[in-house]
Amino acid sequence: MSTRIAPLAILFILTASLTACEKTEQAEKSEHRKISFADDVAPIIQKHCAECHAAGLPGAMATGFVTDTYQSIMNGTLSGQIVNPGSARTSSLYILVSGKDNLAVTMPHGKKPLETGDIEIIRAWIDSGALEN
Ligand code: HEC
Repeated sequence: MSTRIAPLAILFILTASLTACEKTEQAEKSEHRKISFADDVAPIIQKHCAECHAAGLPGAMATGFVTDTYQSIMNGTLSGQIVNPGSARTSSLYILVSGKDNLAVTMPHGKKPLETGDIEIIRAWIDSGALEN
């Protein structure tokens, strides 16, 4: 009996450990992978912010925050920068999307908040210098 179960058990253990292995590799990849402005950050901002903050739209008109280019994002609003390279915690962009400051003022306005993964990408990008990469 036990000799018939053994191969199955081994197979099970193998599969389980393979899956565990894959998971760690993935976690490591996302931790060490360099965040790219063009590939990671810009698409999030285009998806969640551009419908109001592209040049000429209400959010852009009201605040001066225009999502069109890296430079316009770095220029921030009429009252100043919203990205402080190297410090997400002091960057309005991160504070707004993560709802860390005042939950009444979050972006996007009255819409579903960003997913944790997207917020994390923005944090990592700012913390690693907010490069145009
Ligand atoms: C549905 C439209 C809409 C969307 C989507 C939107 N905004 Fe806004 N945003 C506005 C408007 C309108 C204002 C003007 C101020 C206000 O009414 O609160 C504003 C204001 C701002 C301000 C200035 C806030 C301040 O305190 O000065 C920033 C920064 C900002 N938005 C960033 C973003 C970011 C980043 C996103 C995407 C995650 C986003 N917005 C998505 C409409 C929008």
